[in-house]
Amino acid sequence: MMPRDPDFPAGSADLSQDRHMETRQHKKVFIKTFGCQMNVHDSARMRDLLASKAGYRSTEEPETADLILLNTCSVREKAKEKVFSELGRFRQIKARRPDVVIGVSGCVASQEGHAIIQRMPFVGLVFGPQTLHRLPAMISAYQQSGIPQVDTAFPTVEKFDNLPPARAEGPSASVTVMEGCNKSCSYCVVPHTRGREVSRGMEEVLTEIAALSEQGAREIVLLGQNVSGYRGTTQGGKTVDFATLLSEVAALPLVRRIRYVTSHPREFSRRLIDLYEKTPKLVDHLYLPAQHGSDRILFAMKRGYTALEYKSLIRRLRTIRPNLSVSSDFIVGYPGETDDDFSAMLRLITEVGHDNSFSFLYSPRPGTPAALLPIGIPLPVRRARLQQVQALIESHAHRISQSMCGTVQEILVEGQSAKDPALLQGRTENNRVVHFPGTLSATLPVGALVNVTITESARYALHGTLT
Ligand code: SAH
Ligand code: SF4
Ligand code: F3S
Repeated sequence: MMPRDPDFPAGSADLSQDRHMETRQHKKVFIKTFGCQMNVHDSARMRDLLASKAGYRSTEEPETADLILLNTCSVREKAKEKVFSELGRFRQIKARRPDVVIGVSGCVASQEGHAIIQRMPFVGLVFGPQTLHRLPAMISAYQQSGIPQVDTAFPTVEKFDNLPPARAEGPSASVTVMEGCNKSCSYCVVPHTRGREVSRGMEEVLTEIAALSEQGAREIVLLGQNVSGYRGTTQGGKTVDFATLLSEVAALPLVRRIRYVTSHPREFSRRLIDLYEKTPKLVDHLYLPAQHGSDRILFAMKRGYTALEYKSLIRRLRTIRPNLSVSSDFIVGYPGETDDDFSAMLRLITEVGHDNSFSFLYSPRPGTPAALLPIGIPLPVRRARLQQVQALIESHAHRISQSMCGTVQEILVEGQSAKDPALLQGRTENNRVVHFPGTLSATLPVGALVNVTITESARYALHGTLT
């Protein structure tokens, strides 16, 4: 059963080979993505895979799509409900166009598996983050048999061997170096949804990065739930850590900037710290989730470090990189969080001077140990605390932006500004968007690194002039 192309009415019986090919080329996929950068990256890989193996083009309109995918996240509350309510919308599309295939992928799929089909029998595909490479085969199997396909296994690195070569879509490209998590933070569902840590081989990662940089990527973002736990093997059979991988990436001549998301304070090795001295390509920005500032809560969360250890890590890095800006994730309202605990969180944020960060209200996740604990803090109190954290972080971010005025910053050119064609747009090492007068040219292409003097800090962007 081929999905029907809306451009070819059901009555038109012309299925000559050419026409058939054309129909194939016109198949469209709509993907809605929730969650972290890993999921955003997975969605991009699914689009590539569907384009190269099954002739799908991407669309922003579910109404006209032949394949509708929800790439889901289950890290916080109501994730499942959100997915089911989205699916409720798509049920109507399926009722109007029965050939539409509807799939659920990502972390809710991984956790719920068959339960999704039981509740929403019109869903045809359910697959976890590690089996997305099997998508074209699952679509065919579903179309041929009419039986919903569920695949939430955790095969090792099979996924990477079966995805088409990565494509650079701009001056910055993401590369997965590892997946999964071996930690057991008391509140977190990720180890259940993404499985144990699996690292890709070092040469495989380097080959992918080299190819992306040849296509124009100048900034590489290394992705993983816990990149500092990277343990890749080399072709020679040696095991290498994240610091080694980073120094190899830095040795690639076309790579100009390196970022990584996310590392863990407990595994931030001496070697990794030292690398900041020797590796200017590592940006002056670190995303290192602290989660809390109270030792009592950090212990209950099973994070494996104290606030002092976190701070001294940052202090050591700042002796090497005085301008290092630090971002983090924070969880507010963990069960039993007292006023004193909360003050300790504010203190940590103040002392580190955290830049733009993510903060969330704690949400009990089924199957995690913390979910069994009573929260014991009234919701209005938790909300007020969250607001306080966010206001504090915002004030830091504002101060940091202000302090950049008058300084010269290295900017990665992303392209012409969408709002004003006389301006170019780029990004600083600490992730601020900068607009400055200029036009793309052979000597100033997308991906160029240029020095810009910052002249003004507006709400959403900085302004400057080429130096
Ligand atoms: N591996 C990363 C985080 C991955 S999950 C790390 O260890 O830092 C992304 C973020 O979601 C976490 O940093 C945490 O702040 C948040 N998070 C995870 N579980 C949560 C929960 N139950 N309630 C609220 N926020 C949560
Ligand atoms: Fe979750 Fe902790 Fe693993 Fe991060 S380190 S993904 S918070 S279990
Ligand atoms: Fe969400 Fe899964 Fe990422 S739970 S945060 S999409 S790893």
